[in-house]
Amino acid sequence: MSEHNDAPSLKDVLLGVADAFAGASTVACIIAGHRTGFYRAMAHGNPMTADELASAATTNERMTREWLDQQAAARLVIYDEPSDSYALPSAASAVLADPDSPFWLAGGLVGVQALYLDLDKGIEAMKGDGAFGWGDHHPYLFEGTQELFRPAYDHQLVQHWLPQRAHGVEDLETGIRVADMGCGTGYSTMTLARAFPNSTFIGFDLHQPSIDEARRNASEAGLTNVSFELAAADAISGPFDLICFFDCLHDMGDPVGIASHAISQLSQGGSIVVVEPFAMQTRTENHYLRATPRYAMSLFCCVPCSLAQPGARGMGNQAGEVGMRAVFAEAGLDDFTRIAESPNHIVYEACPA
Ligand SMILES: C[S@@+](CC[C@H](N)C(=O)[O-])C[C@H]1O[C@@H](n2cnc3c(N)ncnc32)[C@H](O)[C@@H]1O
Repeated sequence: MSEHNDAPSLKDVLLGVADAFAGASTVACIIAGHRTGFYRAMAHGNPMTADELASAATTNERMTREWLDQQAAARLVIYDEPSDSYALPSAASAVLADPDSPFWLAGGLVGVQALYLDLDKGIEAMKGDGAFGWGDHHPYLFEGTQELFRPAYDHQLVQHWLPQRAHGVEDLETGIRVADMGCGTGYSTMTLARAFPNSTFIGFDLHQPSIDEARRNASEAGLTNVSFELAAADAISGPFDLICFFDCLHDMGDPVGIASHAISQLSQGGSIVVVEPFAMQTRTENHYLRATPRYAMSLFCCVPCSLAQPGARGMGNQAGEVGMRAVFAEAGLDDFTRIAESPNHIVYEACPA
């Protein structure tokens, strides 16, 4: 049997799988720390004994001690043997304790819990036609998705991404009509509505529980320039001056038909903004460790969501610039520009003539 030159050694494979085992186990413990409030209770950064943490978070003392040792082994908390105490360093606090931090990730990991809870259904889909609709997932997926993307919407969308549009944000400041397609629980829509009070925003999604939650959140926030409607992306009626697709166009069954429909619903001079998960230009370049959670989410959530819809293109979230440019070219629009990127996202703008 011939072996490729790049084939990993037995040691590499063992270490790689052991790292994955460690990562998967640590994710479970991070979610537990998030849900119990351990990270919040340690966010001040001062050393705490296991008993002090158990008392602050009202948890079982023995289990709290075991959690702390797991976190120390994962190098997320620091243990001091003489005082038998543990501290959460500020860097770990930014990722695990502070939901407003640009580096917040603990909430997004809840999506991995959904992936495991739904794993049997995912495997069934793999053995069948691949269809597994977004709404058929455990609700932790919707919570995890919102939390995964929220830091980017809080810290990138208005500050860094939209100013790169051909119009910048001048039109949004003056007042335009905007559609947020596949808006999920509406966090992006509400972020825009807060930033641009003269503009009007409508979020559309075909998942009723997400639309219900979006409406609740907007009403609690007292926002009057935003509304949400249950609708498939190919059924919305414009005209809109700006149509946005945040982390969703690849999930749709017929992204070409939906891009064509969006183009037809734009007002004169209107444009489309597409935000997609970060991906490299080629399949080979994309085979690196940081892409593994993206492919896993794509496998169990994005591709089967698309395969459950008419068109069933199954782009996946790693189709990258090449894949998304092809969608708009097939929809008859070649003016498709990569306008911004951040570690987890690429932002494109499409401007019909
Ligand atoms: C990964 S989530 C992203 C949600 C939201 N845009 C965000 O950034 O948090 C994908 C969303 O697309 C929605 N979706 C999928 N196919 C759709 C379609 N054909 N029409 C409208 N929404 C769709 C799903 O219901 C889901 O809420």
